[in-house]
Amino acid sequence: MRTVSTHRLPGTAWEELVREVEVEVLEEWPPSEPLAGVEAAVVVSRRVDAAVLELLPDLRLVANYGVGYDSVDVGACTMRGVAVTNTPGVLDAAVADLTMALVLAVRRRIVEADAFVRSGEWRDEWIFPPVTGEDVAGATLGIVGLGRIGGAVARRARAFDMRVLYAGRRRLETELAEYRELDALLGEADVVSLHVPLTAATRGLVDARRLALLRDGAALVNTARGPVVDEPALVRELVSGRIRAGLDVFAAEPSVPPELLSLPNVVLTPHVGSATTETRAAMTRVVVANVLALARGEPLVTPVAD
Ligand code: 8YV
Repeated sequence: MRTVSTHRLPGTAWEELVREVEVEVLEEWPPSEPLAGVEAAVVVSRRVDAAVLELLPDLRLVANYGVGYDSVDVGACTMRGVAVTNTPGVLDAAVADLTMALVLAVRRRIVEADAFVRSGEWRDEWIFPPVTGEDVAGATLGIVGLGRIGGAVARRARAFDMRVLYAGRRRLETELAEYRELDALLGEADVVSLHVPLTAATRGLVDARRLALLRDGAALVNTARGPVVDEPALVRELVSGRIRAGLDVFAAEPSVPPELLSLPNVVLTPHVGSATTETRAAMTRVVVANVLALARGEPLVTPVAD
């Protein structure tokens, strides 16, 4: 079965794929010319829309490397009978760990503290260096979207003795966190962490009005998707110094608003939520399992709902 991929994926499952099907790693995406006979496409952070599907007339599967599949127009795929799969479940712990790392980094000012040591200004060791942070224990974390990843964050936050609230489409039967309407959560939390997928309903969910609800000194952590937040409005709040942020995702990656680069109240990472060797290899296993299922005429392992 002819398969194209935007990248060579990490981990040993890739070799298993290459042994069983014909895989071509493309140099450019979208392909410069129509590719007849290609039945599966493996995509990493690349757009798949009607125009791309035109170039792959025999396509039957888009296997997205990632749990979030907002870069794939699932409606356009469905119309052409192309299935879409993602990689749910295997990256929850890695993303939740990075989220907690950002919560800790922002509240304890880890990046500023590191810069302070490197600057050579740490001389008088009994005087508190100018990087005194705030407690994590006892602080209130507001989770927006208590799904697989949000739940993993809630469990970690509870182990850090944080008080945990959540907002979401539905009120859940859960002991993990206390439900709040989104606006109430934003006004109550010391740290707000986003864990919703990017959809038409969540694009711009945290807009200028909602950012203004954050308490002075509160922090926004985003390991979900940049466009869930009105980025220019967030930049204005951060430049004013009123709030803080830990950001792993941005509206137009890999571009980062230049105003953020010199701000001490922001910790920035380059979309590395799932970026551990083990997790990335596990994501490859899910992608490979889906492509091989298609090749063998078996049911797909993790199809997404339209
Ligand atoms: C990226 C992610 O897909 O799973 C997701 O939704 O955002 C990440 O895992 C991955 O880093 C490839 O871009």
